Amino acid sequence: MKAVVIDNYGSADELHEAEIVVPKIAEDEVLVEVKATSVNPIDVKIRQGLRKANFDWQFPVVLGWDLSGIIVQIGSKVADFQVGDAVFARPDTYQDARRGTYAEYAAVKEDKLVLKPENISFEKAAAIPLAGLTAWQVVVDRLKIKAGEKLLVQAGAGGVGMFAIQIAKYLGAYVTTTTSNKNRQLLLDLGADEVIDYHKNKITDLLSDYDAVFDTINAIDEGLAILKTSGRLVTIAGNPSEAQKQGHPSAEFWRLQANGKQLAQLGALVSQDRIKVIIDSTFDLTTEGLRAAHRLSESHHARGKIVIVPGNHDD
Ligand SMILES: NC(=O)c1ccc[n+]([C@@H]2O[C@H](COP(=O)([O-])OP(=O)(O)OC[C@H]3O[C@@H](n4cnc5c(N)ncnc54)[C@H](OP(=O)(O)O)[C@@H]3O)[C@@H](O)[C@H]2O)c1
Repeated sequence: MKAVVIDNYGSADELHEAEIVVPKIAEDEVLVEVKATSVNPIDVKIRQGLRKANFDWQFPVVLGWDLSGIIVQIGSKVADFQVGDAVFARPDTYQDARRGTYAEYAAVKEDKLVLKPENISFEKAAAIPLAGLTAWQVVVDRLKIKAGEKLLVQAGAGGVGMFAIQIAKYLGAYVTTTTSNKNRQLLLDLGADEVIDYHKNKITDLLSDYDAVFDTINAIDEGLAILKTSGRLVTIAGNPSEAQKQGHPSAEFWRLQANGKQLAQLGALVSQDRIKVIIDSTFDLTTEGLRAAHRLSESHHARGKIVIVPGNHDD
């Protein structure tokens, strides 16, 4: 099958098309013909060699941890899915490094798999899992946001930020977010109550007595400074130091966990149009497509998600 791989750590120029074997599925897995995948900042960090401590893989490495597609084969113990089902998922990370989703086929464990609602395109479905699950787990499970609480979401125009704003609004929170002025109206349209242009203003000059902060940019000190004494902070981009935790012991780093049940809840909200999926750009599953997509992600100014489609997509 065709995949886009890296043979070395380095710049986006390391990404290139290759022919690799289709993954063999285990009895609790399905094989999905990929209709769309997406690029996340973690892909770029791994490609740059910044995550060697977490991922000790052998080259060639297939990156990518989001997919939507059609099931073409099922393992003997798979009970709830059939060949032909349209699905989406954040697959597990496999040790053999060949099972990323920048490929025409990918293996997924049944418990990570969700039926794709018919009214969500393959492209939008592939944009949901990694970023959406991260936002869900931080806002719902870790920060436990309740109606009426004040939450700051940093980098609201990012893949995670846009989901976080909408999930928190769905829960009834008052949501403030940071972005550049060009994205202000979009984030107001997604439900944000206040939008701060971080180029012109510091959150510490404008905000205080917040119940919670979702830090996506490793601005932990600033986040802690706007919290009330009982306030909570969760970061997905840094590690709160012991000194930072002294004032707010619950401040924590969170790493997303693949979770099919939560993804199904998110998919239902998207299907009901309560949560919108914003796609910055779509690229082909080719050497040039992936290189351009990674360069856009590396700019740190993508507006929503970056989606990749193999030649076989139909929406
Ligand atoms: N721990 C985990 O499990 C986990 C999971 C997912 C993501 N992450 C990490 O979380 C971070 C965010 O991920 P993402 O997918 O949302 O990234 P992303 O989509 O690449 O974020 C891009 C957005 O960040 C905004 N931005 C850049 N600098 C900013 C600043 N100083 N203040 C406010 N906004 C700023 C940009 O808005 P403007 O163009 O308006 O500047 C842009 O829209 C990344 O570091 C990623 O690696 C961690």
